[in-house]
Amino acid sequence: MNAKPYTIGVLTSGGDAPGMNAAIRAVVRTAMANNVQVLGVLNGYEGLLNGEFRPMGARDVGGILQRGGTILQTRRSERFKESKGQREAIRRMNEAQMDALVVIGGDGSLNGAHVLAKQGIKVIGVPASIDNDIWGSDMAIGVDTALNTIMEAVDKLRDTASSHSRAFVVETMGRNSGYLAVMAAIVCGAEIVLMPEVQSTVDEIAASVEESYRRGKTHAIIMVAEGANIRATDLARIIDEMDVGFKTRVTILGHIQRGGHPTGFDRLLAARMGTKAVELLLEGQTDVMVGLKGMGLAPIPLDEVTSHAGPSALTYYEMAKMLAR
Ligand code: ADP
Ligand code: F6P
Repeated sequence: MNAKPYTIGVLTSGGDAPGMNAAIRAVVRTAMANNVQVLGVLNGYEGLLNGEFRPMGARDVGGILQRGGTILQTRRSERFKESKGQREAIRRMNEAQMDALVVIGGDGSLNGAHVLAKQGIKVIGVPASIDNDIWGSDMAIGVDTALNTIMEAVDKLRDTASSHSRAFVVETMGRNSGYLAVMAAIVCGAEIVLMPEVQSTVDEIAASVEESYRRGKTHAIIMVAEGANIRATDLARIIDEMDVGFKTRVTILGHIQRGGHPTGFDRLLAARMGTKAVELLLEGQTDVMVGLKGMGLAPIPLDEVTSHAGPSALTYYEMAKMLAR
């Protein structure tokens, strides 16, 4: 009788990120090249504990490299956070004779992966989240695309802001991280940035906008991370009432930042990380995340990833301010 082929599962979890499909494709095709069988797990951890498994071959991942979102769908699963849900997920994996799992997702999803590993499941994590808040990887899949989406939007907003001599308050996503807001401030030349890592006051922002007006600027762009201590809508309303020279408008970019074709950078990162995840499993590694360190990839223990806060975006704050003068 032939031995059962080595079988891995792959799932996407948490907020979707552009490039997740490219990562799924890399996992499936690297597995195929090594005679490893792949079960796609639908709907993240919710699908894992429901046993929503689908065999995947090379053709199932054709034509997805350039697509945003995730063909495996993603969910946030409260049930999986409970040990009862985790036991059910492990039972489903054993029933399907799944030998290992690749988890593509953000910091929450990687916590889930570590929880499974601690219960004896072979797991490799792949960081994918537009927030770039995952410790152990310089960049996560999806960040570059989101930043480019913000950049295109702000370039357009600047056209109308300049034409009307207005200030625009622009809210970015990022949960508790100011990475997207501060990087967007740098690449878009925003005058001011508010991020969760820095406590700002309305008075100092108003003074700074007014100074920009007095110096003859034709507009002011204020980037506000969604986790900052002042919400974008409140800030826009207050500084409009304070009469700082510019009239003020607000734009909440919202989920537009999560969609769209992944950039070349994200496709390449996803291809490399997806390939590396399968290679690490074949080397016998488990309970690690594929991390980008400089230009290279390295296995980072999930224990370390999940016990540290994400990389601080604070180092770029002073730079953004200096370049805005
Ligand atoms: P992201 O992965 O994008 O950060 P979430 O934080 O919402 O998104 O996490 C995605 C899912 O990962 C959660 O819905 C939950 O099922 C699982 N998860 C998160 N944290 C834990 C945890 N501490 N233990 C087990 N599962 C977790
Ligand atoms: O983690 C990605 C992210 O887009 C965060 O930036 C944001 O805070 C959150 O997910 C939004 O979640 P939801 O899609 O559930 O509204």
